[in-house]
Amino acid sequence: MSEQEEKSEKKQKTWWPHHVLSAGTVSIIFFAILYYLSSTYQIPDDAPEMIPLPDEGEYIPGPEWFFLIFWQPFWFFTGMKKKLLIWTAIVPILISAFLVLLPFIHKIPFHRIPGIGFPFKKIREMRKGFIKKTIYVLPVLLIGGLLMTGIFKSGYQAKLYGCESCHNAAMGHRMYIPPADVADYYRVDRARQIKVGKYRAGKSVGLDKEGRHIYDVSGTQSYKDANWQMRHMYEPTFTW
Ligand code: HEC
Repeated sequence: MSEQEEKSEKKQKTWWPHHVLSAGTVSIIFFAILYYLSSTYQIPDDAPEMIPLPDEGEYIPGPEWFFLIFWQPFWFFTGMKKKLLIWTAIVPILISAFLVLLPFIHKIPFHRIPGIGFPFKKIREMRKGFIKKTIYVLPVLLIGGLLMTGIFKSGYQAKLYGCESCHNAAMGHRMYIPPADVADYYRVDRARQIKVGKYRAGKSVGLDKEGRHIYDVSGTQSYKDANWQMRHMYEPTFTW
């Protein structure tokens, strides 16, 4: 090996070709899995000739799973727990901020901070290798794992294939074809539907005979809001 070759051996890994090839390989594998899943599990669109059952599509992976994680809190945080709903917006912001700032967090000299520095010092002094790398990417793995668990747990009961049993061409306006005048529908009809069916979790839904407020603790009476839309996906035959 010539001197120059030895030098380039020791050179730091560069964006090209190291990063591009490794990240590229991961992306190709990712897209291959995505392609396989999306061509194997296709949403049926043969209605009205072949109408699926409204409950079809449970336990089948779908891209919709991803945003169901943001709907789940509406299911659990009702009544007294309603004030926790704000965290639905805050937690994802905190997590994304953490991931974006990770390179900078990495630069903080944790190993020099008295008191908590010891384990970081230990890790720093470890031999280069797989274990050290794993420890370094642990925060990302943990957050990624949490996210995946959340998406899986929140998504797998959703009835992703059943939509066509009701929302198909035979059902006409509003169910399949957009309302003749969408703006008008949203301003007038839908607004009226919401007003009539409106219920806000944790808010009084009326007065009983003695004049006391009645609360719908389960929070199931909302209509056309996020809670309704979520339940529409999980239990379309009950909530529509
Ligand atoms: C059991 C029948 C049924 C099934 C199954 C069903 N829907 Fe609906 N959906 C309805 C009805 C009824 C409405 C109310 C239509 C209206 O108000 O004009 C509706 C309304 C909607 C709306 C409009 C809400 C609004 O703002 O006015 C959306 C969006 C929607 N459904 C999505 C879905 C999705 C996605 C699925 C499958 C996961 C699904 N629906 C499955 C019956 C169904």
